[in-house]
Amino acid sequence: MKVLTVGGGGRELAAVDALYRSGSEVYAVMKNANPGIIRRSKAHLLCDEKDLEKVCSFAKENGVDLAYIGPEAPLEAGIVDALEAAGIRCAAPTKAAARIETSKTFMRELVEKHHIKGNLGFAHFDNAEDAARYIDTLDHEIVVKPVGLTGGKGVKVQGEHLLNREDTVAYIDEIFENNIGGAGVIIEEKAVGEEFTQMAFVDGKHVVPMPLVQDHKRAYEGDQGPNTGGMGSYSAADHLLPFVTQEERKEAISIVQAIVDAMAAEGCPYRGAMYGQFMLTRDGPKIIEINARFGDPEAMNVLSILETPFEKICLGMATGTLTDDVVFSHKATVCKYVVPRGYGVKSESGHEITVDEEAVKKAGAVAYYANVDEKNGKLVTGTSRSVGIVGIADSLEQAERNCEKALKAVKCDAMAVRHDIGTPELIQRRVDHMKQIRSA
Ligand code: AMP
Ligand code: GLY
Repeated sequence: MKVLTVGGGGRELAAVDALYRSGSEVYAVMKNANPGIIRRSKAHLLCDEKDLEKVCSFAKENGVDLAYIGPEAPLEAGIVDALEAAGIRCAAPTKAAARIETSKTFMRELVEKHHIKGNLGFAHFDNAEDAARYIDTLDHEIVVKPVGLTGGKGVKVQGEHLLNREDTVAYIDEIFENNIGGAGVIIEEKAVGEEFTQMAFVDGKHVVPMPLVQDHKRAYEGDQGPNTGGMGSYSAADHLLPFVTQEERKEAISIVQAIVDAMAAEGCPYRGAMYGQFMLTRDGPKIIEINARFGDPEAMNVLSILETPFEKICLGMATGTLTDDVVFSHKATVCKYVVPRGYGVKSESGHEITVDEEAVKKAGAVAYYANVDEKNGKLVTGTSRSVGIVGIADSLEQAERNCEKALKAVKCDAMAVRHDIGTPELIQRRVDHMKQIRSA
């Protein structure tokens, strides 16, 4: 089939590669010249991914049969509604269905209204004064979130980023003054535990889960520093995580299923990849966020080991005919993102970056180009994450070693990597932390 893809990051390259492996003819739209996507596509267009007119004309000119959308911004702009109006089927949610991500208040209210497990205490505010008054009535720690999209960088947690009342009120003021996220503020109860990602393929009704993944949102080693889009992630050969039981995973999947059922009942059925971010607490999995797309970097972990043709899955999601027979190989994966130095605060972009792809392959890893661009025949870094390196092996230990070996094949004079991701030490810390929480 001729498949349109939108997005130029590592997540999108992983999807394009999975489509390419399944025999699709790819037509790619992206804002940056991602060399991995360009190499695998029949034609590509460099433009603003939210420019619905340009994207639709490109799709129509090329007679595409099906569309896959990577990032959230074009979903919020209504790209699926526009493509469907032009007769193109989409393996992604409409603007209304994407509210599960684009409005954190919509998500929490839906979960509350339908009595779905895993919700956290929350309150929505349209002005800073009411929000500040509200926090004075609480006797527990909170998390402050802009309601709308912020690229994963808008959340601040009490006890971590917000150390006292003044910090918290100042951040609430900042959100309103700078209109961050553009839709007010949501104050949530802080959940304590270990985070995990449960993603699923969804066709409006039917939920087919992917392997569990753990992302690392903090910019620096040891989980320090500001939140980022995600610095790296790992998945285990048994598709669980070392600190999550089969029962806990089942509960997370049943929450995703309940959200999909609720959306269908509300008249806006959800199609496409759905991303469930959970905090595993003493009382089981709690919902941190639900996204209307694959996670980035998590897509690179799971799509690297997807055995079922991705084109078939996308068609199933788009047409309500998804089947259960989706197979992921029983391999462990460790992904570490090479990012521009300063990423998370102020990226130093525009530096040349090179990847020796042969050496990466020899190391038992895959390189996914992300926010890089071509300038004067050279590959240069953008302000977001540059290249995802995914080590793949039978065990997590070996996958991590493969990833580290492959990272040596990436050269850039202003880059950063969280080398601690997927190491036995860090994973053991997670396991011990969860043990301590369960026994508290
Ligand atoms: P989000 O962009 O919503 O995924 O939030 C970014 C990060 O903030 C999450 O990965 C968590 O580490 C943290 N976070 C968000 N919401 C909560 C919450 N209610 N309780 C504890 N931590 C949270
Ligand atoms: N890895 C976090 C996200 O994609 O939202």
